[in-house]
Amino acid sequence: MGTSPSDPEKQARRAPSAFAAAATRDWEAYYDIMAGKPPRETLLWALERFDAEGLLDSADDDPPPPPLAIDLGCGEGRDTAELLRRGWRVQAIDDAPGGLRRLTERDDLVHRERLETRLEGFEGLTLPSASLVSASFSLPFCPPGAFGGLWEQIAGAIPSGGRFAGQFFGDRDGWAALPDRSHHSRDEVMGLFDSFLIERFEEGERDGEDAEGNKKHWHVFHVLARKR
Ligand SMILES: C[S@@+](CC[C@H](N)C(=O)[O-])C[C@H]1O[C@@H](n2cnc3c(N)ncnc32)[C@H](O)[C@@H]1O
Repeated sequence: MGTSPSDPEKQARRAPSAFAAAATRDWEAYYDIMAGKPPRETLLWALERFDAEGLLDSADDDPPPPPLAIDLGCGEGRDTAELLRRGWRVQAIDDAPGGLRRLTERDDLVHRERLETRLEGFEGLTLPSASLVSASFSLPFCPPGAFGGLWEQIAGAIPSGGRFAGQFFGDRDGWAALPDRSHHSRDEVMGLFDSFLIERFEEGERDGEDAEGNKKHWHVFHVLARKR
């Protein structure tokens, strides 16, 4: 006997993997897959450093406003939720309305009054000064012609002592040939951080395959850097 279309196993086999969804920018499918996942590691690296420096500690009766983090390409908000939980103000930016909707509907959001959402693309974006700019797996989706301007905004937004955390996709990544993606060699990534001290840098390269047999060669740089 065959399986019916509603058979959960068959549906699971048909559901796209995260990388198959991201390959085609099917963000709704991507967010479905990512729902409930913990914050990204690069964000946690940054928060650990800020916590060790006591950035959010204040003994003042009239404490200053919490520091601002920008979550660039925030998606459904796994990182924004963590930032709010850990006392930050957050500007969450994404050009996918479904991502921002899912973010604001999350049931683990605290201190919503500290959250500002911006439905905007990377192209032509202007950023305010922010102690942290976190871009988890989002910068590779910036069109190459807009990347220089976006990086100028990111580097300019971070004051001395502030941090960048996030990923770049490498030149050997399977999507490097796609015309609408921004990929970088190791030297190019390093070159972006001239005015920073790189605190953590991990390069990962591996072949991946999902349940549908879609193959992808991954080449990813994970970066945490502090502005000099
Ligand atoms: C791979 S997802 C990562 C989402 C989230 N940061 C995470 O770590 O799960 C990439 C995100 O970047 C957003 N994005 C892609 N291109 C964009 C653009 N040109 N402007 C703004 N956001 C963009 C997508 O909508 C998506 O939410």
